Amino acid sequence: MKILVTGGAGYIGSHTCVELLDAGYDIVVIDNFSNSDMAAIDGVKQITGKDIPFYQADLRDMAALDQIFTDHRIDCIIHFAGKKAVGESVAMPVEYYDNNLNSTLNLCKAMEKYDVTKLIFSSSATVYRGDNPMPLTEDAALGPINPYGWSKFMCEQILQDAAAANGWSVVLLRYFNPVGAHTSGIIGENPRGIPNNLIPFIAQTACGTHRELNIFGDDYDTPDGTGVRDYIHVVDLALGHIKAMDYCNKNTGCAVFNLGTGKGVSVLEMVETFKRVNQVDVPYAIAPRRPGDSATSYADPAKAEQILGFRAAKSVEDMCRDSWGFNRR
Ligand code: NAD
Ligand code: UD1
Repeated sequence: MKILVTGGAGYIGSHTCVELLDAGYDIVVIDNFSNSDMAAIDGVKQITGKDIPFYQADLRDMAALDQIFTDHRIDCIIHFAGKKAVGESVAMPVEYYDNNLNSTLNLCKAMEKYDVTKLIFSSSATVYRGDNPMPLTEDAALGPINPYGWSKFMCEQILQDAAAANGWSVVLLRYFNPVGAHTSGIIGENPRGIPNNLIPFIAQTACGTHRELNIFGDDYDTPDGTGVRDYIHVVDLALGHIKAMDYCNKNTGCAVFNLGTGKGVSVLEMVETFKRVNQVDVPYAIAPRRPGDSATSYADPAKAEQILGFRAAKSVEDMCRDSWGFNRR
């Protein structure tokens, strides 16, 4: 089976490429390097010992897609490519909608043209409304609060309609908080500029890049007052895509699954675990709440477990250790 991995040079895409190659799939990767570079592709080759057909191109370029689908008989697409920074999406909504929607629409056009019937889409827990009871099930109320979240919501709708009309098999995966890195330390999360997300900021603070971590609020209605999230190891997440592909091969229509652990972890717990398992210091200060943050968000992972047979195996300790293994290089 040959899989087209869009955004395969990115954080989650590169880890999924490793798991796909290890599981014996053939892959083709397209990435425009807007948020990555060749190092991730080289890392995947180094870890797996396999070569990868790679196209440096933008998904909005239909001619580039024609080239790929002419060169390769693609059986399934895993669509990671997209812009993902919340703050940037508020500042540049048109760029976000253009990139994320037109990339997805072009892939749909290519699927119709080249008779590809299976697609797995990277969605996000950010599509859920902030006032749902926890844990979040897949039928919880939807209502994003920023252009990034809306772009995921809209892509979900496009794919659901296209699957119904064309008899495709589409799986929408709503990721919770992906963290960690490959245990080799060769690939991991490499954000450009100052990281927005917690774990990259913790790791960079431990390296001395930042003087201290700002903890955004310690007065939430949570056990220690800091925000609670469902962190999932990126290698577990990658394996979830293999399960989703098995599902795609046996079903048609559009299905949605949460990919999380079901376990909520606070910011302070994460900082303390990172310090303990890596024997490093992470200075921090309590700062005001970050606009748009909710107190608590974690998945009900039961549907993915029952239907996909997916269960996250790695611990918070693993996440902290592997994140440091990549960042301390
Ligand atoms: P990433 O930025 O590391 O990877 C995305 C890749 O897509 C990058 O390599 C980028 O260069 C590429 N890309 C972007 N637009 C493109 C285009 N038009 N054409 C070709 N390539 C393009 O992000 P990631 O963390 O690996 O996330 C992968 C997907 O998962 C994204 O769609 C993201 O929105 C989604 N997601 C991520 C998280 C997270 O916390 N990392 C959480 C939920 C959902
Ligand atoms: C954020 C995005 C979400 C996106 C997700 C990708 C917002 C409001 N939400 O989610 O849309 O899908 O990233 O992973 O931006 N924290 C600190 N200090 C920091 C960074 C974070 O205290 O320097 C806290 C946050 O307040 C939060 C927790 O750490 O409680 C996790 O934050 P983060 O990693 O940014 O993820 P989310 O906010 O869940």
